[in-house]
Amino acid sequence: MEVGWRSRFPYSMVWVCLSFFWRMRGGGSRSMYSMGVIGISQAHLIRQILKMLKISIIGCGNIGSFLLKSVKNKILECEVVSVLDKDVERVEKLRRELNMKFNIARNINELIKNSNLVVEAASQDAVREYSAEILESGCSLMIMSVGALVDNEFFNRLRDICIRRNVKIYIPSGAVAGIDGLKAARLSRINSVSMTTRKNPRALNLPDSSKKIVYEGSAGEGIKKFPENVNVAATVSMAGIGIENTKLRIISDPEINDNVHEIHVYWDFGEFKIKMKNLPSKENPKTSFIAALSAIAMLKRISEPVEIGT
Ligand SMILES: NC(=O)c1ccc[n+]([C@@H]2O[C@H](COP(=O)([O-])OP(=O)(O)OC[C@H]3O[C@@H](n4cnc5c(N)ncnc54)[C@H](O)[C@@H]3O)[C@@H](O)[C@H]2O)c1
Repeated sequence: MEVGWRSRFPYSMVWVCLSFFWRMRGGGSRSMYSMGVIGISQAHLIRQILKMLKISIIGCGNIGSFLLKSVKNKILECEVVSVLDKDVERVEKLRRELNMKFNIARNINELIKNSNLVVEAASQDAVREYSAEILESGCSLMIMSVGALVDNEFFNRLRDICIRRNVKIYIPSGAVAGIDGLKAARLSRINSVSMTTRKNPRALNLPDSSKKIVYEGSAGEGIKKFPENVNVAATVSMAGIGIENTKLRIISDPEINDNVHEIHVYWDFGEFKIKMKNLPSKENPKTSFIAALSAIAMLKRISEPVEIGT
């Protein structure tokens, strides 16, 4: 990643040297010297993060290929090291079309070599199959197929690896907004979270019948019944009051083409309602275009020096 000469110039080092020699000659103060040392470590840390974002991607379908295009077009500044997809021809075609130089990984060891963050944009099965090994290797992991994490035992196992290996799991907001509000409200007390998802039956893999409620109950059960469609319910549950307490309703509606998610939160100091009306991606009607953008926004947040939002 290109870092300008101004940010590379070691101002803090100059400060430390000057204050050190000044102190040797009997002037200056210890705090001036310390300020320089702190300056060095902060500048060093920021530079490390900026330079170090080397990602590998599992899955180059709708979200994964959009990520690659964003790197190619410099919307996202990082290095793509490797891509793994069970459909190898798809990766080869994409690499040719984009004229990029990433490796095509044939297994997880090849994928994680030389990268420090893996982005999963494949399936819940891929999360279950690869996550532990990725984290154990010292790579952080961004997960799009969040539904896989509603299995408590699995989630806790990954969490333990993160603590032991000093790595992180990143979960983008995906196709919903309002995660920041939920995370803040949770620090007080949330009384209820209810979510309604409306999609065309085509996106839900259902026959094209009249408008009807196809699921009503806990988010946990809903995620199991519609694993490719309600990753958002998993993200909302994890940020809020958990899969058992979050209420989910899924409506199949042949008259709409958008993916609509409504979230209603009551908490001790008020309530908020969020309605997202997302256009689906052309390649995959189940996936809202904003989900791919959300992954990019999170990668930018990880790599940029200023963070906005909770
Ligand atoms: N968090 C969210 O809000 C959100 C929103 C939309 C989609 N998603 C999820 O993100 C994931 C990717 O979505 P997409 O629209 O890009 O899907 P997609 O079907 O367009 O692409 C998935 C790609 O991953 C590959 N793949 C699947 N399983 C694999 C495995 N085990 N190993 C290697 N490659 C594998 C497939 O061959 C395909 O190329 C899906 O699981 C989807 O449910 C999450």
